[in-house]
Amino acid sequence: MVSAARTIKNTLLSIYDWMFSTMWIVESTRNDTKVDIYRKTIWPEISGNVLELGPGFAASLKFLAHATTSDGSFHVDPNVIKSYTVLEPNPFMYSRLQGNAEANGFNVNYDRLSYPDEKMQNTVSPSPGMVPFKIVRGTLDDAHDIPKAVLAQAPFDSILTSFSLCTVRNPETALKNIQALLKPGGTFYFIEHVRQPDPRDPTVVEDNGVDAVFWGKVQDWITPVWRIIGHGCHVNRRSGLTVANIGGWKVVDYKSVRPVIDLQSRIMPLSFGKAVKADD
Ligand SMILES: C[S@@+](CC[C@H](N)C(=O)[O-])C[C@H]1O[C@@H](n2cnc3c(N)ncnc32)[C@H](O)[C@@H]1O
Repeated sequence: MVSAARTIKNTLLSIYDWMFSTMWIVESTRNDTKVDIYRKTIWPEISGNVLELGPGFAASLKFLAHATTSDGSFHVDPNVIKSYTVLEPNPFMYSRLQGNAEANGFNVNYDRLSYPDEKMQNTVSPSPGMVPFKIVRGTLDDAHDIPKAVLAQAPFDSILTSFSLCTVRNPETALKNIQALLKPGGTFYFIEHVRQPDPRDPTVVEDNGVDAVFWGKVQDWITPVWRIIGHGCHVNRRSGLTVANIGGWKVVDYKSVRPVIDLQSRIMPLSFGKAVKADD
């Protein structure tokens, strides 16, 4: 009885994952056209041994440092990015994630402990100089449940999130786990949609006359329904502030913008920037 209930629950969760990944095929393209201008201001700084939490289809990869390789292809620069690990809980994202990683010149492999399904294999023969890219299934929602493949690769020089802190179970917990996985002096890079920042918030660099108080309330009202449609996404999290408030950083430097491109952008103002972990 218990195992039948578990099977049904897992099947429903799997359908929910599939539905979101299918919706994200269209939605991520729309999202990228709105946010790439901000991603490209900081993503080229990302370097070293890198971890990305919740990469989805890997929209971030195209803005990493690239270079022309000996065979003439324009690929991620192995002198800047030494290795790239992604922690993604939704396996329906993997096919496009792998395709994008391979298109950017990474040598993809799967962590079989967290994702034993042998159907997914790399499609490009590895060649010398390719940067390793490991796909790991999991999250940073629980410090006691971080996949071994991530712990084995830690500590990281750079960790990034892009529209993932809205969905993690608890942002403070995920951020503390991110900080614990960083080297002293390592950098956390983020771009996240947030609750409308206070009108006097000094991080706001593009205000566009948006009524932040009104739209903040709208964000609070719609979040309970949005969470269900958006696979756990909260449109009223103050992720920039949460990064700053967990402490333990020597530098926190981020900007916030209130775009007015469309209705959705009014409920998705952005905060993007970085936080550098304090030295020991
Ligand atoms: C809105 S999508 C963003 C995808 C991608 N980072 C981008 O910028 O296009 C959110 C991503 O977070 C992943 N995710 C969901 N729950 C998560 C969790 N608890 N921890 C980490 N990532 C999670 C989803 O599977 C999805 O890939």
